[in-house]
Amino acid sequence: MTEFTMDRLRENLESLKMKNTLEILDNYLERAVAENLNIVDVLDHIFSEEAKSKRKQAYEKQIQMSGFPIRKTLDDFDFSFQPSIDKRQIDELATMRFLENGENVVFLGPPGVGKTHLASALGLVAARHRFSTYYINCHQLIEQLKKAHFENRLPDKLKVLAKYRMLIIDEIGYLPMDIQGANLFFQLIARRYEKTSTVFTSNKTFSQWNEVFADVTIASAILDRVLHHCTVINIKGESYRLKERKEFMRQKQQIVNTLFDQGNA
Ligand SMILES: Nc1ncnc2c1ncn2[C@@H]1O[C@H](COP(=O)(O)OP(=O)(O)O)[C@@H](O)[C@H]1O
Ligand SMILES: [Mg+2]
Repeated sequence: MTEFTMDRLRENLESLKMKNTLEILDNYLERAVAENLNIVDVLDHIFSEEAKSKRKQAYEKQIQMSGFPIRKTLDDFDFSFQPSIDKRQIDELATMRFLENGENVVFLGPPGVGKTHLASALGLVAARHRFSTYYINCHQLIEQLKKAHFENRLPDKLKVLAKYRMLIIDEIGYLPMDIQGANLFFQLIARRYEKTSTVFTSNKTFSQWNEVFADVTIASAILDRVLHHCTVINIKGESYRLKERKEFMRQKQQIVNTLFDQGNA
C-alpha cells in the first residue's frame, strides 16, 4: 500500500467520522500483516471497534443531555440498608419492560432514603438501552412550563417533554405549587399518559398530593393518570445521608480518643 493510498484512506475515514478506526489503523494494519489475518477478519474487527466506540459516545452524550444530578448505578445502591425495598421490584424495573408498556414509577419516602439515586440509576439503564431519557426537578419543570406559556410556546415545550421515553420528575411536593403550575403539570401528564413512562419521586404521601397540587380536582386528575399503570416503591427507612454522617462522626471520635490515649500514655 503506497503512502498516497494511506493518506486517502485517512482522509476518507476522517470525513466518515470513523475516529476510532483512524486511531487504531496503523497499529492494527501492522498486526494484521504480521499475523497474516484475512480481509474479512480485518474488516470485522475494524467495524466492530468503530461501532462499539460510537455506541459509547452516544451513551455518554445522552447521559450528559439527560441531566442526572447523580451518576450512580443500581449496583451502587446498598439494598441491605433499605429493607423496605423489594429488590425484585427494582430488578423488574431494570428490565425496562415498564418503558415498553408506557407505565410509570413512583418513589415515595422521606429525605435521604435513595429516591433520586434509584430514579437516576433507572435513567442510566434506560440510556444504556438507548431510550431517550430526561431528568428534571419538579420546581424547575413548573418554572419552565410557566415561562413557555408566558412566551406563547407552551405547545412546543409540551411536545418536547411528552416525547422522552423516560422522564424523571424529582422532588414533587418539596416546594408549593400554585393552580397555574398544577394545571400545566396536569397537561404534561395527560400528554404522556399511556404513551411514555414517567418516574416520579416525592417526600409526600399520595393523600398529601391534594395540598401539593393546590386544587383537589386537579390533584385527583393527576393521580388518576399517574397511578393507572404504575409501580409504587414506598421507602420506609433511615436517611443514608444521616448514616454516612453518623459513621463520619464515629470515626472522628475514634481518632480523638486514640490521640487522647496516646497523650496520656
Ligand atoms: N441504600 C443506599 N445505598 C447507597 N447509597 C445510598 C443509599 N441511599 C441513599 N444513598 C446515597 O445517599 C445520598 C442521598 O440519596 P438520595 O437518592 O439523594 O435521597 P433522596 O432523593 O431520597 O433524598 C446519595 O448520595 C445516594 O447515592
Ligand atoms: Mg432526592
